[in-house]
Amino acid sequence: MFNLNIYKEKLSTFLLGQSIQYYSKLNSTNTKAWELILKNAADGTVVITDNQLKGRGRQSNKWSSTPSKSLTFSIILYPDVLPSQINLYSLFAGLAITDCLIENNIQAQLKWPNDILINGKKVGGILCESKISGEVIQSMVIGIGLNVNVHKTDLPQALQNATSLFIESEKQYQLEKLLANICNHLEYRIKNVNTTRSQLLDWEKRCAHLNQAVTFHVDNQIIGGIFKGLSPTGQARMLIDNNEVCFNSGELFN
Ligand code: BTN
Repeated sequence: MFNLNIYKEKLSTFLLGQSIQYYSKLNSTNTKAWELILKNAADGTVVITDNQLKGRGRQSNKWSSTPSKSLTFSIILYPDVLPSQINLYSLFAGLAITDCLIENNIQAQLKWPNDILINGKKVGGILCESKISGEVIQSMVIGIGLNVNVHKTDLPQALQNATSLFIESEKQYQLEKLLANICNHLEYRIKNVNTTRSQLLDWEKRCAHLNQAVTFHVDNQIIGGIFKGLSPTGQARMLIDNNEVCFNSGELFN
């Protein structure tokens, strides 16, 4: 059971995560977050569950997690930014998670757009959803799944390529402290949205495939190229046949 006192003790944010909605069991924290938005949930509210039954991943994939051994949570935001800046938020979330892991001596890396890797294996993912009205983002839900104290034997056959903090470091982590720390780092990253260039450089430094040949799956096409980094709004810059092309979405393989 998630201990809210331990979490609150470690939380040092002004807003993000100060309101928290905890559920012992839930289909999807992202879906619940959208329900709470309809009930005027506060900016920065965190929705967390010990046991997510129908986790949603990117590209309509499922996200499975081991109950009480993984972090599955969503953050509700009402950011006052343009729709072109949506990508930045999921990149900031990835950065905040790696900030927190690096602080714990875990050399985590990022894969565009928002996978968290350790030693080339996926340890976490981010599903960022938003509702746009006219020219502004009305509301946003950043959903984060992170395999924490998961053992190799907990992983289903189909996920044997995935990993966890425990598998990589042979240490157990307190979920409450990790969550609070991710919120602390994420609030800092979001507050500094005006220093986007330096944050994008941080992202590129942690990228697992910078200047490497990758395959890009987009709109039923498979395109090969070199990943050159991020555009000012967080798109993937790819060098294809000596031309630089920017992609807003897609799936990357290397
Ligand atoms: C991915 O496909 O890599 C993104 C996975 C995102 C999973 C998280 S777990 C918490 C939140 N609730 C969901 O239903 N999905 C996200």
